[in-house]
This record gives sequence, structure tokens and C-alpha cells, in this order.
Amino acid sequence: DTGLITLDPGFANTGSCKSAITFMDGEKGILRYRGYPIEQLAEHSSFREVAYLLINGELPSKKEITRFSVLLNDHSLVHEDMRTFFANFPRASHPMGILSSMVNALKSFYPYIEGEKEANITVARLISKVRTLAAMSYKISRGHTVVYPRQDLSYCENFLNMMFHSPVRPYKIDPDIVQALSVFLILHADHEQNCSTSAVRLVGSGKVNLYASISAGIAALWGHLHGGANQAVIEMLENIVERGESISRIIERAKDKKDPFRLMGFGHRVYKTYDPRTKIIKSMCDTLLEKLHIHDPLLDIAKELEEIAVNDDYFIENKLYPNIDFYSGIVLRTIGIPTNMFTVMFAIGRLPGWIAQWKESMDDPEWKLNRPRQIYTGYQERNYIPIEER
Ligand code: SDX
Repeated sequence: DTGLITLDPGFANTGSCKSAITFMDGEKGILRYRGYPIEQLAEHSSFREVAYLLINGELPSKKEITRFSVLLNDHSLVHEDMRTFFANFPRASHPMGILSSMVNALKSFYPYIEGEKEANITVARLISKVRTLAAMSYKISRGHTVVYPRQDLSYCENFLNMMFHSPVRPYKIDPDIVQALSVFLILHADHEQNCSTSAVRLVGSGKVNLYASISAGIAALWGHLHGGANQAVIEMLENIVERGESISRIIERAKDKKDPFRLMGFGHRVYKTYDPRTKIIKSMCDTLLEKLHIHDPLLDIAKELEEIAVNDDYFIENKLYPNIDFYSGIVLRTIGIPTNMFTVMFAIGRLPGWIAQWKESMDDPEWKLNRPRQIYTGYQERNYIPIEER
């Protein structure tokens, strides 16, 4: 049942690895963090608790989660000198590029000191500050007043308040929105050896500090085939609603091998059945929109697209089903997150997973510098040709 695969002895330098953090079964659509099914964590847990579970391996006691919360709060502010960094990014900079740069810059402000106590502080600092940096980036990009984290607010409440509060228009924290954000972040918290996690492990294997390794993961997540898909899905759905692109045309284009277009939010490198996270987030779209009395035409279009695609031979034969990105953007739109920050939200969610995976590889006594090999397809040996003879 553990799904253990037999690894060849040289696996350590191929980019594959052993890990005890997250288990996925792509054929059965199973996802578990440290053995707990994603469905149970989404229903009963909080993002703060899931972050603790992924990084420390066990669900926290009341005392442990309180201590973790105090650390998150104590390290939620950003060094004031970092504001000059924001001021010098062009206004139109993509938030993912800003976040990757700012996380890398944290190393300059917080030199990583060995030792368990500092390690716990570094972890809490990163999880707490990434949220603050993201909100600051949003406020500064709009020329708005930066809102500081508050001691009396939870992780998700603080993020929403830092994003949407204004001195002249106080933000009213809605528990339904807070819960939706927490579940969104839980669903994104880890996912085995995906592209960006592999980048974090690869960079970290050279004994690179945590901040730089995470910065590499943020860069890897940015691509529209990976974490950038949630933004690409909404842009695809908006094109259908605003430009009148027909759904059947979208489906035909996705099937046309000569057309580079892919149905964004569909398909997966591992899941060859329905992504278990998609079921949860799709249901959350309905619940949240109903509670907030909102009708979003993009959700109707998404459901219609899914209904047609999952019954189409091309998608059935290629085992293409909606992945989490197909519906996640609807939740973020409803919360009020701007489209160009959707992948930043994915990064905030994935951060505990990246940290857990980085720590696991750093602590592995058998771990070596990650050095994938290749299949050489170039020229055989040949002699140099002087330029006069070329
Ligand atoms: C994430 O790895 C993770 O765990 C990632 C992630 C995480 O949590 O970290 O789950 C997050 O990245 C989810 C994926 C988000 N990306 C998208 O939604 C972009 C659209 N999806 C595709 O680009 C694609 O499905 C990939 C990149 C995700 C996977 O591509 P593969 O490996 O080619 O998929 P496949 O081998 O299963 O494809 C089988 C066939 C291929 O045709 P051939 O090249 O063999 O002729 O189906 C085609 C693919 O070209 N295909 C699609 C398609 N996805 C695959 N055709 C149309 N639309 C699509 N979306």
C-alpha cells in the first residue's frame, strides 16, 4: 500500500529521492500529508497546523501550535529597509518575480545560524514573512498604504487584512472567506516531487541556504504549465466570456496537435484520474459563492468545459482530468485576489512543503549533491578546424 517503487542504486544523482512527507497515487487519486488524507485535513485542520505537520512530521499538541503561532506572529514584520527594494521594482513587475527576489534577499537581513532554535525561527520567519511580503507587494504596486500584520489576527486573517484593509475603508473579516483561504492553502501545501519542489531540493543539495532554495522554487512555480496555470485558466475562461470564444472551439484547439494551445487546468504529470484536490476546491467554489450570494459566470463556463472534456474521447484516452488549477482561480477571484497574484497564493500555500522537503534532503545522511545525468545525442569526437578552412 505504501506504493514504494524499486529505486536503482544510482537514484540519488538522478533527481529522484526517497521521502516520508507526501504520498500520491496517480491512478487512484490519493493524496496524503504525513499519512493523513487530504480530505480530512481540508475538513478538520488549519493551514498553520498543516504547515507544522508537514515540517515536523506530526500534528501539533495545543502547546506546540501555540508556540508555533507565537513564532509566526513575532516574525511577521519585514525589515523596514526592504521597502526600498519594493520602491525600485517597475510598477508593472509580476508579483512572482518580486517575491522570488525578496525571499532571496531575506538571507541578507537574516543570516542563517546553525542550531535547532534558530532553525525553528527561520522556518516561522519564512512562512510568516512570505505572506507579509506578498501583501506589501500588492499594496505598493497600487500606490496604497502598506498595512502591518496584527497580533490579534490569525495567519489567514492577517493576510486578508494586510491585502484589503485601508485606513479609510476598514476591511471586515468574513469567516467564510478566511476558511476558504485556509483550505486553499492546505490543498497547495505539498505535492511530492513536482517541478518547483524538485528545484528546491536540487538547489538545496549544493548546501545552499533555505531562502535561496525557496527563491528557486518560487521561480520554478511561475511557469504557466506549473503554478502559473491558475492564472492561465482564469484568462482562458475570461476569453470565453468576454471575447465570446466558443467552448467547442477551445476543446478542438486543445486536441489539435498542430496548435500549441493546451486546455489550462487539465492534465497532470502524475494524476491519471481526477485530482483529489479538485473535488474539494470545486465544491468550495459552490459553497463560498452561495454563502456570499455571488454568481460568477466563469464557474458556469468551467463546469461546462469540464463536462464536455471529461466525456471527450481525446481526454479520456489521454487520461486528462481537471487539476487543482482548473477551479482554484475561481476561489481566489471570489476572495478578491488579483489574477496576477494567483500563483503567489500557490507559493504561499506550497511554502511549508518546500521547507519540509528541503529539510528532509538536508537531514538525509545518504543525500549527495544532486547531479542528474543525460543521454548524449551530439557529435562523436572530431578535430578542430582552423577558421581559414571553415
Ligand atoms: C501543477 O506535478 C505536480 O504535482 C504539479 C502540481 C502541484 O501541485 O505541484 O499539481 C501543480 O502544475 C498542475 C498542472 C498545471 N498545468 C496545467 O494545467 C497546464 C495544462 N496542462 C498541460 O500542459 C499538461 O497536462 C501538463 C504539463 C500538466 C502535463 O503534461 P504531459 O506530461 O504532457 O501530460 P501527459 O503526458 O499526461 O499528456 C498526454 C497527452 C500528451 O499528448 P502527446 O504529446 O502524447 O501527443 O495529452 C496531451 C499531451 O500533449 N495533453 C493535453 C493537455 N495535457 C496533456 N492536451 C490538451 N490539453 C491539456 N491540458
